[in-house]
Formats: sequence, C-alpha cells, structure tokens
Amino acid sequence: MYFRLIYCSKPTATVTLPMVQDIVAKAQAFNNANRITGALFFNHEHFLQCLEGDRTTINKLYHERIAKDPRHSDICLLAAEETTEFYFTDWSMALITQTSTFKNLFVKYSGMTKFSPTTIASSDVLDFFLEARAALRNKS
Ligand SMILES: Cc1cc2nc3c(=O)[nH]c(=O)nc-3n(C[C@H](O)[C@H](O)[C@H](O)COP(=O)(O)O)c2cc1C
Repeated sequence: MYFRLIYCSKPTATVTLPMVQDIVAKAQAFNNANRITGALFFNHEHFLQCLEGDRTTINKLYHERIAKDPRHSDICLLAAEETTEFYFTDWSMALITQTSTFKNLFVKYSGMTKFSPTTIASSDVLDFFLEARAALRNKS
C-alpha cells in the first residue's frame, strides 16, 4: 500500500546546513535500500519533510528513528494518507533550502511573513511539495 507522511519540526539550535546535508546523505542510503522517496525542507527555524513508500516501512522510520532523533523537536504531523501517486520518485531524499531555486515557492507560501509550516493548511502543504518538485526538475 502506497503511503505519504508529512510532518514539520524545529531543528535543534546547534543544527547547521552541513549537518543537515549529512542527515540527507545517510537518509538517501537508507531510503534507497527501503524504497522510500521524499523531500526535506530545512531552514534554521523549520524542518518540513515528505516521506513516501510502503506504509509499514514509513511508519517504522518515522516512529522508531526520525521522531526519536535529538536533532529536532516539536514534531507536528501534517498529513498521513494512502496515495496512488508518489511525488518524489526521482529522489530518495531531496533537500530543499531557501536558495534561489526555490525563491518563488517561498514568496508564494510565505507572503510578507516568514515561512511557517505549522500554519499552512494540509492541502497547501501538498501543493508546496508539488511546486518544490517542479523547481527540482527545472534545476536538473
Ligand atoms: C529532520 C530529519 C529527517 C530525517 N529523515 C530521514 C530519512 O528520510 N531517512 C532516514 O533513514 N533517516 C532520516 N533521518 C535520520 C534518522 O532520524 C536517524 O538518525 C537515522 O535513520 C539513523 O538511525 P540510527 O541512528 O537509529 O541507526 C532524519 C533525521 C532528521 C533530524
């Protein structure tokens, strides 16, 4: 059964971009081996992650590893649903940062204020990831 899970969290204060790049590199190896795909947004205030794969595998990864990881806190589940279509089949874990590639995305979803995943409606979170995918495709 295909499943998608989206959550946001707060990076621990000491977490830097190189640390997140390291998390993503290791995640890519695990995810690849376990047929998981997805994307991870990071800025110094928020993580926002989309995980796609087999439902049991995603649940195990989320509950047993990610949710227990001390590099973030305040985890908030935004969406957990069965799906017939994965968004990120080309990426075992894409990294999205507030760089020029994604500039339009952040202008759209932040308006005049800061990007704030906790206050975005679940349906808009899905749109956010779809648009992030388009930006990733243009980039490559
Ligand atoms: C925000 C965030 C997202 C993560 N995403 C993944 C992921 O997609 N896949 C993965 O294997 N590990 C991910 N990790 C790392 C896991 O939490 C964990 O450190 C890793 O799976 C190694 O687990 P272990 O130390 O129990 O072996 C993530 C960590 C953080 C903080």
